[in-house]
Amino acid sequence: MNWNFQEIQERVEEETQGILSAQDLEAFRIKYLGRKGMIQEIFASLAGLPDEQKPLVGKGANELRSRITAVIEKKKTEIREKENQARHPLMDITLPGVAPLAGHRHILTQTIDEICGVFERLGFTVQEGPEIETEFNNFTALNIAVDHPSRDAFDTFYLDKPDPKNKGRYLLLRSHTSPAQIRIMQKHKPPLAVVVPGRVYRPDAVDASHSFMFHQVEGLLVDRHVKFSDLKGLLTVFCKRLFGDKIKMRFRPHFFPFTEPSAEVDISCYICDGKGWLVHSPSAKMSLPRDPKGSKGCSVCGRKGWLEIMGCGMVHPHVFEAAGYPQNRYTGLAFGLGVERIAMLKYGVQDIRIFFENDVRFLEQF
Ligand code: PHE
Repeated sequence: MNWNFQEIQERVEEETQGILSAQDLEAFRIKYLGRKGMIQEIFASLAGLPDEQKPLVGKGANELRSRITAVIEKKKTEIREKENQARHPLMDITLPGVAPLAGHRHILTQTIDEICGVFERLGFTVQEGPEIETEFNNFTALNIAVDHPSRDAFDTFYLDKPDPKNKGRYLLLRSHTSPAQIRIMQKHKPPLAVVVPGRVYRPDAVDASHSFMFHQVEGLLVDRHVKFSDLKGLLTVFCKRLFGDKIKMRFRPHFFPFTEPSAEVDISCYICDGKGWLVHSPSAKMSLPRDPKGSKGCSVCGRKGWLEIMGCGMVHPHVFEAAGYPQNRYTGLAFGLGVERIAMLKYGVQDIRIFFENDVRFLEQF
């Protein structure tokens, strides 16, 4: 018998195209590699061939067998993959999509960004300072006397690591962001205008309005002729941008060791509009300010009509001295505000603890 390997090869290739299932493949295997298959038949025919043809035909049969074996392996994988895909489709584009859960900034981060954004648009830059501070930066350089109660271990978290630069003194968790003032002034010469957001720590018992950790934004502006009127103007613009143009403000004299003069800033209560009292209106389903007769006190401002939102003042000369600035050359203004307090006022949040509980039902609202 004469074997035309070229032709057989072409036929094999053609048949390969038609193999679509495991059954097709098995039939193909039996046809060529089976006990009564073509390869066997070729080898069986060798005996009847003239001697000079035997090696050629033997070689052709061997080649054909390895080609067919390779084809079968390849098809086997293809069919298995096709079956897998049918069982677990990668994607059904006709199904409605599943929206991925998108996260967003925490309400406190949003509030910090909003506060800093107002000052950035006024020309301030944003900087940060470390949460682990030296006693020097947190107290001494800020003109806070050695016997000041805020230095007490009841009011400040001291760490058991001593300050390497100051023997006998310990490092602490900063109790306000004001030590950043010292770091910035030690590094930069005026004119400077910076805001410093960050965490601060105080060993307060945790309740609806206290947390052992909260956030502040510190502000510092130093130049040659900074005046108290600049401080008033700046903070008035800030409060109006944050709480709206209708808000009224007052600067109440106060004391901070690191500013002189110092003040606390109040804004008129946005709930009772500065009146201090409310009357419940069932038709409007809300409390509205009305005649004080028969009214109840506003619980947001505690009948005061004012909400305290920050501390501020003109930088004390002792602070400039501690930062290494020459005497009598510069004046400056500083302020510090509590982020949680601002967010609570702005969004009507009643309990500070809810900011830190990670309850998505609360966080999703902002
Ligand atoms: N550091 C003060 C506080 O924590 C706030 C403040 C900052 C007051 C800057 C005046 C100037 O209460």
